[in-house]
Amino acid sequence: MALERLDKLLASTGRWSRSEVKRLVREGRVLVNGRVAASAEEKYDAQCDAVCVDGERLRLERFVYVMLHKPAGVLSATEDGRGKTVLDLLPEEYRKRGLFPVGRLDKDTEGLLLLTDDGQLAHELLSPKKHVDKVYFTRVEGELTEDDAAAFADGMRLGDGLECLPAGLEILSAGAQSEALVTLREGKFHQIKRMFAARGKPVVYLKRLSMGTLVLDESLAPGEWRELDEAELRKLK
Ligand code: URA
Repeated sequence: MALERLDKLLASTGRWSRSEVKRLVREGRVLVNGRVAASAEEKYDAQCDAVCVDGERLRLERFVYVMLHKPAGVLSATEDGRGKTVLDLLPEEYRKRGLFPVGRLDKDTEGLLLLTDDGQLAHELLSPKKHVDKVYFTRVEGELTEDDAAAFADGMRLGDGLECLPAGLEILSAGAQSEALVTLREGKFHQIKRMFAARGKPVVYLKRLSMGTLVLDESLAPGEWRELDEAELRKLK
């Protein structure tokens, strides 16, 4: 039986900071096993003790949330007979927990990849209805223009009939090769590459910088990872 402080247990849900938990406890809004909790420092067992806030029973199983700086050359799948996957970059204990990547990046795409065993959060981050923007840094062949930005903003229809939702294209530099930030609200197969290909400007480099409020920690080198901190998790949820 692993005992943890009430403020840590509640903060790990991502819904409150530890100081907010202290306030909830002071206000008598936290019940443990039917009794008002006296202090945020009391220790309880997430598996056995029933913790309620404002009458709502909380799920206190501990999920794991890992931010990976995905390097190029690695597949964002959980298993693949053909090559190294992002799970091969994590220690054994994480692989055993059944972590999976939230959405896919192409093999040659770098950048932010969230891995978790929290299926509900993954679903919410990926649903276009939840409007979670994903921002990518892109380098393409050819000179990007405001016409390209207007086509992205209108919502492109690709050659195979795929209708894209309106997307953002912020041009950072334009020349023989151009650089831009692309903001997508969805994640169709090879979407950014296909959108630029439709404009005659093939992608030569792609890196995801953010997903909703979660921003790639640039102190992580490609291939490195860390767990999300409480503030990142709270904002994401
Ligand atoms: N769009 C792409 O084309 N590839 C990715 O990996 C992500 C978005």
